[in-house]
Amino acid sequence: GGNPANQPPNVPEWTRSLGEGVAVRPYGKPSKFEKDVVRRDVEWLTASRESSVSFTPLHELEGIITPNGLCFERHHGGIAEVDPADHRLMIHGLVERPLILTLDELKRYPRVNRIHFMECAANSGMEWRGAQLNGCQFTHGMIHCVQYTGVSLRTLLEEAGVKTNGKWLLVEGADAAAMDRSLPIEKALDDCIIAYKMNGEALYPEQGYPMRLVVPGWQGNLWVKWLRRIKVGDQPWHTREETSKYTDLMPNGKARRFTWSMDAKSVITSPSPQAPIRHGKGFTIVSGLAWSGNGKVKRVDVSLDGGRNWWPARLDGPVLDKALTRFYYEFDWNGEPLLLQSRVQDETGYVQPSKAELRKIRGVNSIYHNNGIQTWHVQASGEVENVEVA
Ligand code: MTE
Repeated sequence: GGNPANQPPNVPEWTRSLGEGVAVRPYGKPSKFEKDVVRRDVEWLTASRESSVSFTPLHELEGIITPNGLCFERHHGGIAEVDPADHRLMIHGLVERPLILTLDELKRYPRVNRIHFMECAANSGMEWRGAQLNGCQFTHGMIHCVQYTGVSLRTLLEEAGVKTNGKWLLVEGADAAAMDRSLPIEKALDDCIIAYKMNGEALYPEQGYPMRLVVPGWQGNLWVKWLRRIKVGDQPWHTREETSKYTDLMPNGKARRFTWSMDAKSVITSPSPQAPIRHGKGFTIVSGLAWSGNGKVKRVDVSLDGGRNWWPARLDGPVLDKALTRFYYEFDWNGEPLLLQSRVQDETGYVQPSKAELRKIRGVNSIYHNNGIQTWHVQASGEVENVEVA
């Protein structure tokens, strides 16, 4: 591609005249040559605004931080465009001192900064019955990892004074779905945050502006956006999102309830179906992501032959608690087909299962919590497909 007139030995056009000055683009954007790096949806999955989802382009990203404009979205009632001047957060129920806070008041409480992944429980959900979607954006892209700034939920609960029989919180959003979930008080007091910034700037409307709940390591559905209400009670509410949805139907017809934590999982982001190998055989970089809702990533192994042999991958960059971790595996590709896999072990000793191991216990009735090992078939041409090995 490109324009030969701009290539050596010619002097490219951008060297021959002055470029634009400052502040012509008051809010910066990526180069126009990166226009394909965008969130995407899957048409048959995004039938209506009552239930819509877009996916993070994982195959184009590096490091561990997701840029704000590329974070996947999952909305049950569309994007609420909330004016912070009209928004309040109420904390009530089994508390000594009910609170009603504006965004400005929230910002007067001591702040914390934390980097965490957030994964939708339905991530990889379309892959339960076999390989389906061709690209890690679609198989694994219901995840993002950003740095949140906000107030620890513990701080606010202490301010409100939770009564001794206060054991559960109902957390509720201000969107058209008024999405709500029950959260046990132990988690609320442990590491939850009410965030108003992501990657240093205000939350984006898609991510719950002006405030959202951050529930580190737990399924995305609990991370209520446009957070408007926290009610303290003595038992869970059993809302729609924790009964008919976000429960895992087992082979015997019973459903697992309250499967909050996201088990360890990993995926090779490049090469992958949307990021084939273009350079032919020779030195090849395998890049991927690993994470665990139960702590830090301890190690990642990569297989080139569908899980027969495993080689340790190199973790690079920060390895943080309940955050994405970047791994690399560099090797000399002989140009023959590969069955690429990655497998993570977290600090609790838990090892990511194969899809067969997962199905043996969970069956195929589930949508949620599919953390099985992903296989990419790399052809001699460098093209890559989503497959499964027996
Ligand atoms: N909060 C509200 N108020 N409304 C919603 O539709 N979707 C939930 C959760 N919080 C949702 C919500 C689900 S299912 C997920 S996976 C995450 O938000 C998605 O967050 P994101 O859009 O930042 O990716």
